[in-house]
Amino acid sequence: MSYRVVLLGPPASGKGTVAAALSVTLQVAHVSTGQLFRETIRRGGLAGQAARQFIDKGQLVPDDVVIAIVREWLDDHGTKPEFIFDGFPRTVTQADAFDEMMAARSLTRPTVILIEVPAELTIERILGRLGCVNCAALYHAEFDPPRQAGVCDKCGGRLVRRADDTEATVRERLRWYTDLTLGVVSHYERAGGLQRVDGRQGKQQVFADVLRIVKS
Ligand code: AP5
Repeated sequence: MSYRVVLLGPPASGKGTVAAALSVTLQVAHVSTGQLFRETIRRGGLAGQAARQFIDKGQLVPDDVVIAIVREWLDDHGTKPEFIFDGFPRTVTQADAFDEMMAARSLTRPTVILIEVPAELTIERILGRLGCVNCAALYHAEFDPPRQAGVCDKCGGRLVRRADDTEATVRERLRWYTDLTLGVVSHYERAGGLQRVDGRQGKQQVFADVLRIVKS
Protein backbone atom coordinates (compact mmCIF):
# COMPACT_ATOMS: atom_id res chain seq x y z
CA MET A 1 0.00 0.00 0.00
CA SER A 2 1.29 3.51 -0.84
CA TYR A 3 0.73 6.34 1.60
CA ARG A 4 0.21 9.91 0.42
CA VAL A 5 -1.40 12.07 3.06
CA VAL A 6 -2.16 15.79 3.43
CA LEU A 7 -3.01 17.13 6.88
CA LEU A 8 -4.92 20.40 6.95
CA GLY A 9 -6.00 22.41 9.98
CA PRO A 10 -5.61 25.73 11.76
CA PRO A 11 -2.45 26.66 13.69
CA ALA A 12 -1.84 24.24 16.59
CA SER A 13 -4.60 21.87 15.54
CA GLY A 14 -2.07 19.05 16.04
CA LYS A 15 -0.93 18.50 12.42
CA GLY A 16 2.74 18.23 13.38
CA THR A 17 2.05 15.98 16.38
CA VAL A 18 -0.06 13.55 14.31
CA ALA A 19 2.29 13.66 11.31
CA ALA A 20 5.32 12.77 13.44
CA ALA A 21 3.54 9.73 14.94
CA LEU A 22 2.16 8.67 11.56
CA SER A 23 5.60 8.93 10.00
CA VAL A 24 7.00 6.48 12.56
CA THR A 25 4.06 4.05 12.26
CA LEU A 26 3.90 4.04 8.44
CA GLN A 27 7.64 4.65 7.85
CA VAL A 28 6.77 7.48 5.48
CA ALA A 29 8.46 10.92 5.30
CA HIS A 30 6.89 13.74 7.32
CA VAL A 31 7.19 16.95 5.29
CA SER A 32 6.29 20.11 7.21
CA THR A 33 6.70 23.24 5.10
CA GLY A 34 6.79 25.29 8.32
CA GLN A 35 9.64 23.13 9.67
CA LEU A 36 11.52 23.38 6.33
CA PHE A 37 11.30 27.18 6.64
CA ARG A 38 12.43 27.14 10.28
CA GLU A 39 15.48 25.06 9.30
CA THR A 40 16.25 27.50 6.45
CA ILE A 41 16.03 30.39 8.91
CA ARG A 42 18.36 28.63 11.38
CA ARG A 43 20.93 28.10 8.62
CA GLY A 44 20.91 31.87 7.98
CA GLY A 45 21.49 33.37 4.54
CA LEU A 46 19.19 35.27 2.22
CA ALA A 47 16.53 32.56 1.79
CA GLY A 48 16.14 32.32 5.57
CA GLN A 49 15.94 36.09 5.99
CA ALA A 50 13.29 36.30 3.28
CA ALA A 51 11.12 33.55 4.85
CA ARG A 52 11.52 35.06 8.34
CA GLN A 53 9.96 38.36 7.23
CA PHE A 54 6.68 36.55 6.64
CA ILE A 55 6.73 33.87 9.33
CA ASP A 56 7.53 36.17 12.28
CA LYS A 57 4.55 38.34 11.33
CA GLY A 58 2.25 35.33 11.04
CA GLN A 59 1.85 35.81 7.29
CA LEU A 60 2.06 33.14 4.61
CA VAL A 61 5.26 32.75 2.61
CA PRO A 62 4.55 33.60 -1.08
CA ASP A 63 3.10 30.77 -3.17
CA ASP A 64 5.93 30.62 -5.73
CA VAL A 65 8.51 29.99 -2.97
CA VAL A 66 6.42 27.26 -1.31
CA ILE A 67 5.51 25.56 -4.60
CA ALA A 68 9.17 25.49 -5.69
CA ILE A 69 10.20 23.86 -2.39
CA VAL A 70 7.53 21.16 -2.65
CA ARG A 71 8.28 20.48 -6.32
CA GLU A 72 11.96 20.08 -5.48
CA TRP A 73 11.12 17.70 -2.62
CA LEU A 74 8.98 15.54 -4.92
CA ASP A 75 11.67 15.56 -7.64
CA ASP A 76 14.21 14.31 -5.07
CA HIS A 77 12.04 11.42 -3.91
CA GLY A 78 11.63 9.14 -6.91
CA THR A 79 8.78 8.52 -9.33
CA LYS A 80 6.26 7.31 -6.73
CA PRO A 81 7.01 9.39 -3.64
CA GLU A 82 5.15 8.67 -0.40
CA PHE A 83 4.67 11.50 2.10
CA ILE A 84 2.74 13.06 4.92
CA PHE A 85 2.43 16.76 4.10
CA ASP A 86 1.78 18.94 7.13
CA GLY A 87 0.82 22.55 6.36
CA PHE A 88 0.79 22.26 2.56
CA PRO A 89 -1.19 23.24 0.51
CA ARG A 90 -2.42 26.38 2.24
CA THR A 91 -3.83 28.40 -0.65
CA VAL A 92 -5.92 27.43 -3.67
CA THR A 93 -2.96 28.37 -5.91
CA GLN A 94 -0.80 25.87 -3.99
CA ALA A 95 -3.55 23.21 -4.17
CA ASP A 96 -3.89 23.66 -7.96
CA ALA A 97 -0.11 23.43 -8.41
CA PHE A 98 -0.05 20.33 -6.19
CA ASP A 99 -2.81 18.67 -8.27
CA GLU A 100 -0.68 19.29 -11.38
CA MET A 101 2.43 17.86 -9.71
CA MET A 102 0.49 14.69 -8.79
CA ALA A 103 -1.02 14.38 -12.29
CA ALA A 104 2.40 14.87 -13.93
CA ARG A 105 3.63 11.87 -11.91
CA SER A 106 0.46 9.84 -12.63
CA LEU A 107 -0.32 9.79 -8.91
CA THR A 108 -3.87 9.82 -7.59
CA ARG A 109 -5.01 12.57 -5.22
CA PRO A 110 -3.68 12.03 -1.68
CA THR A 111 -5.79 11.26 1.38
CA VAL A 112 -6.72 14.72 2.68
CA ILE A 113 -7.62 15.04 6.36
CA LEU A 114 -8.81 18.20 8.11
CA ILE A 115 -8.07 18.34 11.85
CA GLU A 116 -10.70 20.65 13.31
CA VAL A 117 -10.25 22.68 16.52
CA PRO A 118 -11.89 25.93 17.66
CA ALA A 119 -9.83 29.16 17.71
CA GLU A 120 -9.70 29.46 21.56
CA LEU A 121 -8.05 26.05 21.80
CA THR A 122 -5.42 26.88 19.17
CA ILE A 123 -4.34 29.90 21.22
CA GLU A 124 -4.08 27.86 24.43
CA ARG A 125 -2.06 25.19 22.65
CA ILE A 126 0.28 27.62 20.94
CA LEU A 127 1.07 29.58 24.07
CA GLY A 128 2.19 26.37 25.85
CA ARG A 129 3.99 24.72 22.94
CA LEU A 130 7.65 23.73 23.32
CA GLY A 131 9.81 22.19 20.60
CA CYS A 132 13.21 20.51 20.67
CA VAL A 133 15.97 22.46 18.88
CA ASN A 134 17.64 19.14 18.03
CA CYS A 135 14.99 16.67 16.88
CA ALA A 136 11.89 18.94 16.58
CA ALA A 137 9.87 16.76 19.02
CA LEU A 138 6.83 18.63 20.32
CA TYR A 139 5.61 19.12 23.89
CA HIS A 140 3.10 21.30 25.69
CA ALA A 141 3.94 22.91 29.04
CA GLU A 142 0.57 21.84 30.48
CA PHE A 143 -0.99 19.14 28.25
CA ASP A 144 2.15 17.17 27.37
CA PRO A 145 5.10 18.26 29.52
CA PRO A 146 8.59 16.76 29.20
CA ARG A 147 9.84 14.64 32.13
CA GLN A 148 12.50 17.26 32.96
CA ALA A 149 11.62 20.93 32.41
CA GLY A 150 13.27 22.39 29.31
CA VAL A 151 14.84 19.08 28.18
CA CYS A 152 13.66 16.79 25.35
CA ASP A 153 12.68 13.27 26.56
CA LYS A 154 13.76 11.77 23.23
CA CYS A 155 17.24 13.24 22.64
CA GLY A 156 18.12 15.47 25.62
CA GLY A 157 17.98 18.58 23.38
CA ARG A 158 16.93 22.02 24.64
CA LEU A 159 13.21 22.88 24.46
CA VAL A 160 12.30 26.33 23.18
CA ARG A 161 9.24 28.30 22.14
CA ARG A 162 8.82 29.26 18.48
CA ALA A 163 9.41 32.90 17.54
CA ASP A 164 5.96 33.01 15.89
CA ASP A 165 4.13 31.57 18.92
CA THR A 166 2.86 34.84 20.40
CA GLU A 167 -0.79 35.67 20.91
CA ALA A 168 -0.69 38.51 18.35
CA THR A 169 0.96 36.31 15.73
CA VAL A 170 -1.44 33.46 16.34
CA ARG A 171 -4.40 35.76 15.73
CA GLU A 172 -2.78 36.84 12.45
CA ARG A 173 -2.13 33.20 11.48
CA LEU A 174 -5.77 32.35 12.24
CA ARG A 175 -6.87 35.25 10.02
CA TRP A 176 -4.77 33.95 7.12
CA TYR A 177 -6.15 30.47 7.74
CA THR A 178 -9.72 31.75 7.51
CA ASP A 179 -9.05 33.99 4.50
CA LEU A 180 -6.96 31.59 2.41
CA THR A 181 -6.68 28.04 3.73
CA LEU A 182 -10.42 27.48 4.13
CA GLY A 183 -10.48 27.82 0.31
CA VAL A 184 -8.26 24.73 0.17
CA VAL A 185 -10.74 22.88 2.39
CA SER A 186 -13.51 23.74 -0.11
CA HIS A 187 -11.23 22.75 -3.02
CA TYR A 188 -10.86 19.19 -1.65
CA GLU A 189 -14.45 19.04 -0.41
CA ARG A 190 -15.72 19.81 -3.93
CA ALA A 191 -13.51 17.03 -5.28
CA GLY A 192 -15.17 14.69 -2.74
CA GLY A 193 -11.91 13.76 -1.05
CA LEU A 194 -11.88 15.52 2.32
CA GLN A 195 -12.23 13.70 5.65
CA ARG A 196 -12.59 15.40 9.02
CA VAL A 197 -11.19 14.51 12.44
CA ASP A 198 -12.13 16.10 15.77
CA GLY A 199 -8.86 17.66 16.97
CA ARG A 200 -10.28 18.53 20.41
CA GLN A 201 -9.77 14.93 21.49
CA GLY A 202 -6.61 13.70 23.20
CA LYS A 203 -3.52 13.06 21.07
CA GLN A 204 -3.93 9.26 21.06
CA GLN A 205 -7.53 9.45 19.85
CA VAL A 206 -6.73 12.02 17.14
CA PHE A 207 -3.91 9.77 15.96
CA ALA A 208 -6.15 6.66 15.99
CA ASP A 209 -8.82 8.46 13.92
CA VAL A 210 -6.27 9.69 11.37
CA LEU A 211 -4.61 6.26 11.11
CA ARG A 212 -7.98 4.55 10.53
CA ILE A 213 -8.75 6.95 7.64
CA VAL A 214 -5.28 6.60 6.11
CA LYS A 215 -5.45 2.78 6.24
CA SER A 216 -9.01 2.52 4.91
P1 AP5 B 1 3.58 25.74 10.46
O1 AP5 B 1 4.74 25.30 11.22
O2 AP5 B 1 2.94 24.79 9.53
O3 AP5 B 1 2.51 26.34 11.51
P2 AP5 B 1 0.91 26.17 11.65
O4 AP5 B 1 0.16 25.70 10.48
O5 AP5 B 1 0.49 27.44 12.25
O6 AP5 B 1 0.78 24.95 12.55
P3 AP5 B 1 1.56 24.72 13.84
O7 AP5 B 1 2.91 24.12 13.54
O8 AP5 B 1 1.53 25.96 14.68
O9 AP5 B 1 0.62 23.68 14.61
P4 AP5 B 1 0.28 22.16 14.35
O10 AP5 B 1 -1.07 22.05 13.76
O11 AP5 B 1 1.41 21.42 13.69
O12 AP5 B 1 0.15 21.69 15.90
P5 AP5 B 1 1.21 20.95 16.82
O13 AP5 B 1 1.23 19.49 16.50
O14 AP5 B 1 2.52 21.68 16.82
O15 AP5 B 1 3.91 27.06 9.64
C1 AP5 B 1 4.58 28.15 10.26
C2 AP5 B 1 4.65 29.32 9.28
O16 AP5 B 1 5.39 28.90 8.09
C3 AP5 B 1 3.30 29.79 8.72
O17 AP5 B 1 2.67 30.73 9.60
C4 AP5 B 1 3.73 30.43 7.39
O18 AP5 B 1 4.31 31.69 7.61
C5 AP5 B 1 4.82 29.48 6.90
N1 AP5 B 1 4.28 28.41 6.05
C6 AP5 B 1 4.29 27.07 6.32
N2 AP5 B 1 3.70 26.39 5.33
C7 AP5 B 1 3.31 27.29 4.40
C8 AP5 B 1 2.63 27.20 3.16
N3 AP5 B 1 2.23 26.01 2.67
N4 AP5 B 1 2.37 28.35 2.49
C9 AP5 B 1 2.76 29.56 2.96
N5 AP5 B 1 3.43 29.72 4.14
C10 AP5 B 1 3.69 28.59 4.86
O19 AP5 B 1 0.51 21.10 18.25
C11 AP5 B 1 0.45 22.35 18.90
C12 AP5 B 1 0.58 22.16 20.43
O20 AP5 B 1 -0.56 21.46 20.92
C13 AP5 B 1 1.81 21.34 20.85
O21 AP5 B 1 2.30 21.88 22.05
C14 AP5 B 1 1.26 19.92 21.08
O22 AP5 B 1 1.99 19.23 22.07
C15 AP5 B 1 -0.17 20.21 21.52
N6 AP5 B 1 -1.14 19.22 21.04
C16 AP5 B 1 -1.19 18.66 19.80
N7 AP5 B 1 -2.24 17.83 19.68
C17 AP5 B 1 -2.87 17.87 20.90
C18 AP5 B 1 -4.04 17.25 21.41
N8 AP5 B 1 -4.78 16.39 20.66
N9 AP5 B 1 -4.41 17.54 22.69
C19 AP5 B 1 -3.69 18.41 23.45
N10 AP5 B 1 -2.57 19.02 23.01
C20 AP5 B 1 -2.16 18.76 21.75
